[in-house]
Amino acid sequence: MKMKKVALAFTMTFAISLSTFAGCGQVKKADSEATKEVDKSVYMDPTQDIDTRIKALMDQMTLEEKAGQMVQPEQAALEPGDVKKYGIGAVLSGGGSAPKGGNEIINWAERVNELKQEAAETRLGIPLIYGVDSVHGNSNVFGTTVFPHNIAMGAAADPELMKEYGRVVAEETRATGIQWIYAPTLANPQNELWGRSYEGFSENADDIGPLAAAFIEGAQGDYKGSNSDYLSDDRVVCCAKHFIGEGYTEGGRNQGDVVMDEKEFDEKLHSSLIKPYKAAVEAGVPTVMASYNSVNGLKCHENGYLLTDVLKGELGFEGYVSGDYNGAQQVSGNSYRQQVANTINAGVDLLMEPNSWKENISDIVKCVEDGTISEERLDDAVSRILRVKFQAGLFDYGIDTDTEKALREKVGCEENREVAAKAVRESLVLLKNDSYKEETVMEALDDFTSIAVVGSKANDIGAQCGGWTISWQGQTGNITDGTSIIAGFAKESADTGAKFYYSTSGADIDPSAQAVVAVVGESPYAETAGDRSDTTLTIDNGDKSVLDKTFETLENSGMDIPVIIVLLTGRPVTIADYVDRADAIVEAWYPGTEGQGVGQVMFGDYDFNGTLTYTWPWYASDIEEKFTDESKVLFKYGTGLKRDGSSIKSIGTTAIGPKPDKPKANEGAMSGYVDLSSCNYTVEGENYTADSYLITTGNANNISYAQNFGGQWANGKWDVFVPEEGEYTLHFMVAAAEDTNTVEIYYNTPTITDDGNANRTLVPIKATKSMDDYGDVTLDVRLNAGNYEFKLMNNTEDGADIRLDSIIFEQK
Ligand code: BGC
Repeated sequence: MKMKKVALAFTMTFAISLSTFAGCGQVKKADSEATKEVDKSVYMDPTQDIDTRIKALMDQMTLEEKAGQMVQPEQAALEPGDVKKYGIGAVLSGGGSAPKGGNEIINWAERVNELKQEAAETRLGIPLIYGVDSVHGNSNVFGTTVFPHNIAMGAAADPELMKEYGRVVAEETRATGIQWIYAPTLANPQNELWGRSYEGFSENADDIGPLAAAFIEGAQGDYKGSNSDYLSDDRVVCCAKHFIGEGYTEGGRNQGDVVMDEKEFDEKLHSSLIKPYKAAVEAGVPTVMASYNSVNGLKCHENGYLLTDVLKGELGFEGYVSGDYNGAQQVSGNSYRQQVANTINAGVDLLMEPNSWKENISDIVKCVEDGTISEERLDDAVSRILRVKFQAGLFDYGIDTDTEKALREKVGCEENREVAAKAVRESLVLLKNDSYKEETVMEALDDFTSIAVVGSKANDIGAQCGGWTISWQGQTGNITDGTSIIAGFAKESADTGAKFYYSTSGADIDPSAQAVVAVVGESPYAETAGDRSDTTLTIDNGDKSVLDKTFETLENSGMDIPVIIVLLTGRPVTIADYVDRADAIVEAWYPGTEGQGVGQVMFGDYDFNGTLTYTWPWYASDIEEKFTDESKVLFKYGTGLKRDGSSIKSIGTTAIGPKPDKPKANEGAMSGYVDLSSCNYTVEGENYTADSYLITTGNANNISYAQNFGGQWANGKWDVFVPEEGEYTLHFMVAAAEDTNTVEIYYNTPTITDDGNANRTLVPIKATKSMDDYGDVTLDVRLNAGNYEFKLMNNTEDGADIRLDSIIFEQK
């Protein structure tokens, strides 16, 4: 044994990591141990108890084999044979990462099983665990049943439904052989500028636990039941995420910082944040994902107090903690190796390092060899991972079981889609419902025989699914099988014979129409791309035009008919300009593939059931005050009306109060992000206030960017908010001294790419000869709506200067 014993420098972390497995499975030298014959008789024997199996296995593991269990590559980053060669224990598909072979369920099953087979062929045959973001169905895969996002499930507030939902997700995921899902998300968002608000069930932590526990029970099987079906091979291992505090970051910034007095944070942690996790752990959740956010400047991925003392200690969590995607790369440390050590020492057991996995494995080995990571911590992490694999029966079920094969036949079946349609029906929130003649607008709707439907989102499966569908960001268009909202309306009216006239723009409303239903909202987004500023948190500009046009058309043609707005948004957004003009408002969230659920309530036999779990302010600029100043609130937490106009919950009056003063434009806007619609789609250095955007060089004033080192990034970046998804030609106005210049343009999420990752594109530029003349360097690109960060690299080998003056976004 060459291993040094490590001084207990990180005592807090340590007290708990020395749990059951302290001392067992001592690290073996690779060369000697790896050639020994393996004794599988105990750890492969399902009749043995789990502790005995773990010990029998760990006693035979080399340091390399242990490190291999702690690292998780992305499937697309693996060459054939890698899993076997490196003894990899876990693989994931990130958002939108379909197998090369195609995006049907069978392609996924083949890919997953091929990788599992490689793991089975390793010396020890430790099975692979494969993770995927089934955050609203197995939604990366074409043809699956896609459910409403969590914000809608929070509005539905039905634990029995959550259980059914969990079961369907488990079955449709397990059909691909995947045994681990990164759900449920337990965030409780406080600020809907946050791009992940729709992934949370509620702003109120008390609402989350019961729904999460029911989902987990449905997806994993009953943890406590006597005839336990817990983690049988038609179920999946759940992952509660992201631990912890992500809904509380400053300004609602994704991956941001929770800034709170230490004591106050601890109180908040224990009185509320931790509750959903407690419920999840009690429901038997075996994995938890660390969050990207920081708490008072310290990333959760390196917070030993939170991960080890609180989660593993106080909550008694015995499963493993997963890192988030490249999460280790965000923690402190002067080298990747140090970051890996800090992450593991804080309590992360399995590192999701999609592309740097090889380096990660060798860094773990080196850290254990030099004592930066103790053997005890190594063994603790590995034993936690193995425990979950044993609990989930991965050692016992084999590859591509009959159950999994049979489940493939059920993917997207009628029965599963009906569960999702039920979720849609239950989650719609009727926010406004004026009276109309003797009844309410929604009551009257049933009797109309001619209805105009406007807005492209009424006929768009991608728009109604939102982010995390087929691709990471999601996308408008017919991206998968499903029923559009308008097709659902038509189905409902088959009995009554009502006619629907559809106009995407609102420019032509049939004169016979007795009402207009306008379907508008936010185009899909995910994570940081969904972060908004006070001024940009609203419905798409294109949809505002649809509403404006609709009201104009009605006025011009003298039609006095009710207008019902159906919102497809991931959160409360500013709709102050339309609240008065609408006669009824239905929040349909992102309902998923089963759009018929909307029509079934609006035109069918079901009444509205959903209530808001998020306080909805008049203006996004009032978000910070929405919990303390009722005058800033448009719809209270708990709002939800029935068809007859009565309130579902007794929350006092649901009448809409007076509109507060409209905030001044840009007041309190998220610093840095320039909204294209407010600068005529031309971004200049002068649009920014931060110094880093305005670089003055030589005799040129107010030059936005200057760069005079070949092969280096210009210091500074351009933060841009793109309001409309679409095809763009970007014109970079660049001055360049040499003919040979090229620039490399970097633009980050939410661009649509196959791998869902940031983009770098090399673009040749022509010399303009003078540093004060600007040439036009163009780049054609498809952009989603959302926040982007543009950076520029001068790739000129001889180090000639370039300057960037402006970027013009030309919409095609
Ligand atoms: C997200 C996680 C997700 C992971 C894997 C990360 O970017 O924060 O929620 O599970 O990617 O796709």
